[in-house]
Amino acid sequence: MSDDYDAIVLGAGAAGLMCAARAGQRGLRVLVLEKADKPGRKILISGGGRCNFTNIGAGPANYLSANPHFAKSALARYTPRDFLALVESYGIAWHEKTLGQLFCDGSAQHIVDLLLAECAKGDVTIRCAQEVDQVTRTDGFCVATRIGRYTAPRLVIATGGPSIPKMGATGFAYDLARQFGLKVVEPRPALVPLTLGGEDVLFRELSGVAAPVEAHAGKTSFAEAALFTHRGLSGPAILQVSSYWKHGEPVAIDFLPQHSQDWLLEAKRGNPRSSLRGLLRDQLPQRLADTLADRIGLNGDLGNASDKALRAAQDRLRRWLFHPNGSEGFAKAEVTAGGISTAELSSQTMEAKKVPGLYAIGEAVDVTGWLGGYNFQWAWASGVACAEAL
Ligand code: FDA
Repeated sequence: MSDDYDAIVLGAGAAGLMCAARAGQRGLRVLVLEKADKPGRKILISGGGRCNFTNIGAGPANYLSANPHFAKSALARYTPRDFLALVESYGIAWHEKTLGQLFCDGSAQHIVDLLLAECAKGDVTIRCAQEVDQVTRTDGFCVATRIGRYTAPRLVIATGGPSIPKMGATGFAYDLARQFGLKVVEPRPALVPLTLGGEDVLFRELSGVAAPVEAHAGKTSFAEAALFTHRGLSGPAILQVSSYWKHGEPVAIDFLPQHSQDWLLEAKRGNPRSSLRGLLRDQLPQRLADTLADRIGLNGDLGNASDKALRAAQDRLRRWLFHPNGSEGFAKAEVTAGGISTAELSSQTMEAKKVPGLYAIGEAVDVTGWLGGYNFQWAWASGVACAEAL
């Protein structure tokens, strides 16, 4: 089987489908090759099946990249409101859950259907169950799958990253980029639960307990819920800081972020017969309160404790240091940080500077969003930026 196209998009995920649809609607003959038996599989499982399809506040500050400026142009040219307008034009009901996160009221299938309808408007050809295993370049790009060979002067890498390998995710994008001499920023699991060992292992007994905290890794912090698991720490606050966490560094948790600096001293003055355990139980789930109180070891009435001991307890609760011994890895990572180096790509068009006609978009690129709809917004925005340049 052999066909000629203006552009071939590798991967029918969020970025690939958006790019193909827009390019098709501009009049290009576009082919999408997808290895899975249906398009948009990660979209279908996203947001607990309801797809957190964008974040209304998404901006460059919500992304990690070796070059924090790279995403600016694409994000500015295709905004969360643009995607929301598209969602509304299809009559898809949505709601804001929290922190600007927009979800479908119904199923994530609506978003896949929207993308497929947009592709249909652009006469895009989508071929599933066609894993690309070889790409060569002569006049244009020649793409080979077990079923056929396809050629086009332009090729878009939209095959994502290796997070969730049991869904078939691989580092194919990086292999292809390297084949064409493009650098890859070391990929690492992001938005991923962290594992605890050593002394911290006792906290695993709190598996299932969650609390609103402020979690810090390096200079970055997130005020959201943390969850103890049988392997360590999870929950939105931890997933967020995991993207910034480096092996060997601690994660600091403020268990009482709403409290004033001297809340224990104030409690001692106001009610000397209160106890640390009792006060913690008023604020936190009981099992967590008891574990923290046991570790601090400040028993009895606050009135009998020295101000120095109370200050030490306050400080510890504000900056409880955990020493993760790792993460749950790509198997549980919602995204991959790192990827095809932005230094290799035009931020306007996503085209490789030294390989004209080759483009990379979406998660394959070294641009990684926070938890909360930011990664899809990057997929849409980078897909559109590329489509307009093809
Ligand atoms: P994506 O991975 O979506 O698509 C790549 C496609 O390429 C896949 O269909 C793959 O099969 C195909 N492919 C790979 N190799 C190939 C080959 N050799 N030949 C042909 N095809 C190939 N983000 C967000 O903003 N809101 C959310 O609610 C969620 N929720 C969420 C939940 C879970 C469980 C996960 C794992 C991830 C999320 N995300 C998310 C992240 C989001 O899903 C992710 O950032 C985007 O899907 C990335 O889109 P891409 O199109 O770049 O890659």
